[in-house]
Amino acid sequence: MALYSEKVMDHFRNPRNIGCMEEADGIGEAGNMKCGDIMKIYLKIENDIIEDVKFETFGCASAIASSSMATELIKGKPVAQALELTNQAVAEALEGLPPVKMHCSVLAEEAIKLAILDYYKKNDIPYAKEQFPDCENCSHCSHHGH
Ligand code: FES
Repeated sequence: MALYSEKVMDHFRNPRNIGCMEEADGIGEAGNMKCGDIMKIYLKIENDIIEDVKFETFGCASAIASSSMATELIKGKPVAQALELTNQAVAEALEGLPPVKMHCSVLAEEAIKLAILDYYKKNDIPYAKEQFPDCENCSHCSHHGH
């Protein structure tokens, strides 16, 4: 049995929305200390809609496929909807990830959330703390300075 679904292979080989963005409205970075992989998400937001999204990922095939799929899932969507994207939804859209690779999809969820948090903070938009990763009280990854 193949380890990865065709969708994972497709998004790994032809990642969508790869690159960085100048003058992004929100930037989020998530890392995993165990594997050392890092994912960065850039958002362009207009009238509460995610007009554009780019990612840079230094990581494994699953992390790259997860970022690619996640950017496709939130592009053109309202910010509130992007905030609800879970890593399970990303993995499902990829037709599954091996259990040992599920944590790679978590990076996508977290990086998107942190990019939205960055956008909210920059624009003085009120937000509910519970909707975001609790970086100050957590030591499982490498969000520095958030
Ligand atoms: Fe680190 Fe996949 S092994 S994100």
